[in-house]
Amino acid sequence: MTTATLNRAAGTLDITWPDATVAAFPYLWLRDNCPTGLHPDTRERTFDLLSVAEDIAPISASATDGSVTVEWGDHISRFSAQWLKAHRPGKRQPDPADVARVAWRGDAAEDVIPRYDAASLLRDDAALAAFLHAAKVSGLAIVTELRDELDAGMDIARRIGFLRETNFGVTFDVESKPDPNNLAYTSHALPLHTDLPNQEMPPGFQFLHCLANDAEGGGSVFCDGLAVAEDIRRDDPDAFELLATELIPLRFHDATTDIRTHDTVIRLGHDGRVAEVRFNGHIAGVFDLATDKLAPYYSAYRKFMALSRSDAYRTTLRLGGGEMVVFDNRRVLHGRDAFDPSTGYRRLRGCYVDRGEWDSRMRVLARNAAAPKE
Ligand code: OGA
Ligand code: ZN
Repeated sequence: MTTATLNRAAGTLDITWPDATVAAFPYLWLRDNCPTGLHPDTRERTFDLLSVAEDIAPISASATDGSVTVEWGDHISRFSAQWLKAHRPGKRQPDPADVARVAWRGDAAEDVIPRYDAASLLRDDAALAAFLHAAKVSGLAIVTELRDELDAGMDIARRIGFLRETNFGVTFDVESKPDPNNLAYTSHALPLHTDLPNQEMPPGFQFLHCLANDAEGGGSVFCDGLAVAEDIRRDDPDAFELLATELIPLRFHDATTDIRTHDTVIRLGHDGRVAEVRFNGHIAGVFDLATDKLAPYYSAYRKFMALSRSDAYRTTLRLGGGEMVVFDNRRVLHGRDAFDPSTGYRRLRGCYVDRGEWDSRMRVLARNAAAPKE
C-alpha cells in the first residue's frame, strides 16, 4: 500500500506515490542527489557531477516499502520515497525565513510596528523568533527597555547574527561630533534615506539604540520604501521603470575611503517583486544619465522623494532613552529632525545585521523549535 510505483522512461524515472502524486526524475538528477554523495558530517556534496556521463541511465530501479533503489551498474542509490516526494522537481522546499512582507503607509504604521522588550529577546528564543518574523513582515520594529549601556543594542543584534562591519565601524555613534565625516554626526536634519547605498551591498537590518534624546528636536521619521515603490509601479509605470533600470552614482568619501557604486533606486527580485530600495539624497553623486533621460529621471526620482515624505507614507515617532528601532535598511527609509545640542544630549548607537544572517537565525530557531534539544 505504501510502496511507490516506478516506471523507467527514456530520460526519467517516473514515480507514482500511493496518494497518486506523480513526478518524473531525470536520471542525472537522481545520481546527483544520491544520499551517498553527501559528506556524512557536513552534509555538503562530495559527489563530483562530472564523474558520470550526462546521459547516465540505471540498469534497474525498484521500490519497496518506503524506499526507492536505483542501480547504476557501478553504484547503488537508495532513496527514501518520502524524501523524493518532498524534493520532486519543480517543488521548492519550505523556508521559514520566506515571510510575506506587508507594506505599510503613513499612520497605519502604528498598528503594524511590533514592539518587544529587550529582556525577552535576550532570554527567550520563541520571543526572538516572533520578533524576527514580525520585523521582517513590517520592515520596522521597536525594542523597549534596553539597559542603559552602550552595548545593549549590540547584544540583541548579536543574538541574531554577525554584525556587518562598515567604514563607520562595527558599531557607530550618532551624535553631534567635531569634524564630522557624515551628516548624521551633526545636528542637521536627515531627510529620509537608506544607509550606505553607495556600498555594493548596503547593510541589511539596522539597529539604532537611543541612549539619550534630551535635546530639542531630534524626532525620527520612517517610510516604507516598499509601499512607495509598489504604488509608483501601479500609478506611474514609466516612472517605476526608470527607477528600476537607470543607474545613478552613489558615493561616500572621506580621508581614508572612497566607496562608490552605480545602482538603481528600486531593485526587483528574481520573482519580479520589489526586493530593495536604495535612496540617499545626500550621498547621491552627479547624475550621469544622457541629457534626454535626465528630465524624465528627475521627475521619477522626485516623485519617489515627494511620496516618501508625504503624510500618506511616512510615520513619525520620538525615540526615548532605552528604546531601539530595528528596520530593514534595504526597504525602510529613515530620517530625523534637526536638533539643538545646546538644549540637551542626544546619542544613538547603531549597528547592522545583514539580511542573510537574519534569515539564518529564523531558520535555526524554527529548526530548534521543531526538534527541541535536551
Ligand atoms: C544615521 C541616521 C538617525 C538619527 O546615522 O544614518 O540616520 O536619528 N541617524 O540620528
Ligand atoms: Zn541613516
